[in-house]
Amino acid sequence: MAELGMDVPQPHVVILPFPAQGHIKPMLMLAELLCHAGFDITFVNTDHNHTHIDQSGFHSRFPRLRFMSIPDGLPPEHPRIFSGRLAPDWLFSTRSVSKPKFKDLVISLSQETGRWSPPTCIIADGIMSSAIDVAEELEIPVITFRTYNAGSTWINFHITKLIEKGEIPFQGDDMNRPITSIPELENILRRKDLPSICRVEEVENPVLQFYITETAAMTRASALILNTFNELEAPVISQLGSIFPKIYTIGPLHALLESRIKDHPRSDSSNGSLRKQDRTCLTWLDSQPSKSVIYVSFGSVVVLTHDQLLEFWHGLVNSEKPFLWVRRQGLLGMDEEVGETPAELMRGTEERGCIVGWAPQEEVLAHRAVGGFLTHGGWNSTLESILAGVPMVCWPQVADQQPNSRFVSDLWGIGLDMKDTCDRSIVEKMVRDLMEGKRESIRQSSAEISRMAHDSVQEGGSSYCNIDKLIEHTRSIM
Ligand code: UDX
Repeated sequence: MAELGMDVPQPHVVILPFPAQGHIKPMLMLAELLCHAGFDITFVNTDHNHTHIDQSGFHSRFPRLRFMSIPDGLPPEHPRIFSGRLAPDWLFSTRSVSKPKFKDLVISLSQETGRWSPPTCIIADGIMSSAIDVAEELEIPVITFRTYNAGSTWINFHITKLIEKGEIPFQGDDMNRPITSIPELENILRRKDLPSICRVEEVENPVLQFYITETAAMTRASALILNTFNELEAPVISQLGSIFPKIYTIGPLHALLESRIKDHPRSDSSNGSLRKQDRTCLTWLDSQPSKSVIYVSFGSVVVLTHDQLLEFWHGLVNSEKPFLWVRRQGLLGMDEEVGETPAELMRGTEERGCIVGWAPQEEVLAHRAVGGFLTHGGWNSTLESILAGVPMVCWPQVADQQPNSRFVSDLWGIGLDMKDTCDRSIVEKMVRDLMEGKRESIRQSSAEISRMAHDSVQEGGSSYCNIDKLIEHTRSIM
């Protein structure tokens, strides 16, 4: 995948992620891989995120990757988190406000003179159907990239069927009821493992309807990209083949980047992070024994109540394991005050804990001192943990996290699922079980699946080959 000369006409791809960390990061990694293949890339963020991403490292590595931005229509003080009433504003503004601005931007790109050719393809986030509309209106080929794994994507395609069968909506009732009508996942899913959007009072719920519409729109794209690897999810990927003529599974993207772009390695200023990473925790990890530390992070959009924070904190301290905990700004939503910390938590944290606002997560998970990950089960975090061979305790909250945690515990056997419980004694027990190797099979499966993930990005591996096929496909639709 050598960089080609400037004289050969190359695709110009416009990439539009949903404006959240877990979407921007994988789509930016894809942008880097496509740039490395010689493509021109215009990566479109919202104005809000545009100011938070450190672009300096990208400019020096990839002069053909440029960042542009459009408004998201939300006031600056909007926390852009997935907390109850705030989520719909965020989702719907991507349609009402961002769509016409995105269209204007793509039109202006089409009229550019100079070294940038008109866009030849749009890669739209799987929940940004407005980009598919714009592509169709302007007659530009479009590819969709769902930032979920294949299993969660497949479930989203069955929501309408589950509504017809009366399985959805539900709210807290009969949560262990098996969901048997999704092929390949018949023996895995229960009601409580369906995406959080299904936990509503009525079918008309706007967020549920948003995801149904967005998922249906994906089928109008010429191909589907997923940040997963064939060996992990082969049966479901094959089922998705009944919907998409072309599927490119190219994950774990962060490992594929490392394998394919050895000459321009990523740096602190080119990791797609919207927040400044506190690297001091790596020094703290250096001082800890091998595989002794439980790393704790709930991703970028999950919000905890004050009581939940205390339950986790007590559970971690009571487990007597060293812990590294990411408590990002906004973790408690609008209710940022922690209040007075009980003395035993202060003592336990001083003795064995390290708390940071945002961590260099990929490096943390790869650190020899980390032996477990207490996670919300976001797909990027899960995949990063899979690659590092670190077993997980999952506490899923929103979107695809419910199915992800079930896959982790019962499909892949690489962790424990804390779903719908938040109690200090359970936190303590699960952390102890995981860290003390009481679940030997979990450690073995984690090591095995990690090896498969590494193999997939090496020369001849499935993801390694699929990125070439995606590049070929993108050239063929020019
Ligand atoms: C959410 C969904 O849960 C996810 O499944 C979906 O695909 C995208 O939206 P999010 O809450 O952001 O995602 O979690 P996750 O997908 O795990 O992404 C978080 C990213 O932030 C990871 O790549 C992680 O490495 C990074 N991160 C997190 C840091 O760099 N530092 C931190 O301290 C915490």
